[in-house]
Amino acid sequence: MNQAVSSKPFQRLLLTGAGGGLGVMLRERIKPWAQTVRVSDLKEIAPAGPGEEVVQCDLADREAVMALTEGVDAVLHFGGVSVEDSFENIMNANILGLHHLYEAVHKRGIRRVIYASSSHVVGYYPTTQVVDATVPLRPDGIYGVSKCFGEALSRYYYDRFGIETVCLRIGSSFDAPRNARMMTTFLAYDDLVELVRCALFTPRVGHTITYGVSDNPVKWWDNREADYLGFVPRRSSREFAERFPQTGVWPPAEDIAATYQGGPFLLAGPMYKD
Ligand SMILES: NC(=O)c1ccc[n+]([C@@H]2O[C@H](COP(=O)([O-])OP(=O)(O)OC[C@H]3O[C@@H](n4cnc5c(N)ncnc54)[C@H](O)[C@@H]3O)[C@@H](O)[C@H]2O)c1
Repeated sequence: MNQAVSSKPFQRLLLTGAGGGLGVMLRERIKPWAQTVRVSDLKEIAPAGPGEEVVQCDLADREAVMALTEGVDAVLHFGGVSVEDSFENIMNANILGLHHLYEAVHKRGIRRVIYASSSHVVGYYPTTQVVDATVPLRPDGIYGVSKCFGEALSRYYYDRFGIETVCLRIGSSFDAPRNARMMTTFLAYDDLVELVRCALFTPRVGHTITYGVSDNPVKWWDNREADYLGFVPRRSSREFAERFPQTGVWPPAEDIAATYQGGPFLLAGPMYKD
């Protein structure tokens, strides 16, 4: 933070994954927080507007990630593989790439990262159980395993070097729920922006894990462990109730996508593709 040279709270924020679904939305909405927002993605993205810098970068390229982080005050890390994929693709972006990012953050003296983790780190918990940030991890695929790595890596960089991270275990963040499961996992864009704001501006966060979910009628995730962030969701999947009405037709007990919180991600893993 440098308030001497800027009326905005941050001099320069880095947003990775700026070409993705969440990145495109966040790019517009975080502008008031920083004099300059450096937006980055593997793919080509819209050219820089006022107060922006665009840097195309593959997270798997160590030197490129080091250059990407120069002059940055804090990182909003939304880049990477965001669904189940081959181990190689996930490894390059989410494991190797994340290590490159934290090494660069450490060497540059950057103090805070907001990390887009995922609720799929606990996707193998049943849909009849409420879980909080302290339960043992039960990922529902290789993608979820890579997010567990991210949570562990960021924990290490806090314990060893004091770099603060807020891990956002995002549910399903889209403009609206896309299926019945998302009536429980939905995180409205407004609520995501507010959660990122809380994660970035709370004075001390240490290493925090929080679920990213709106105030939906059915709840699987208990966020009391991260109450000090002050995040209060204002939106709810109730707004979309007519799209996925309760039918009273229950899924069979052996339907694993209805039995476990991870839903269809459980069926997307490599062992189901052969
Ligand atoms: N949208 C959700 O509901 C949701 C839920 C849980 C977690 N998340 C996490 O939030 C983040 C953003 O999600 P999204 O929905 O916008 O995903 P997305 O797939 O739309 O965007 C991810 C972006 O990362 C970029 N990327 C991929 N590999 C990269 C690499 N090697 N180097 C640099 N950039 C790379 C892609 O080009 C893409 O633009 C992801 O980390 C995702 O896992 C999202």
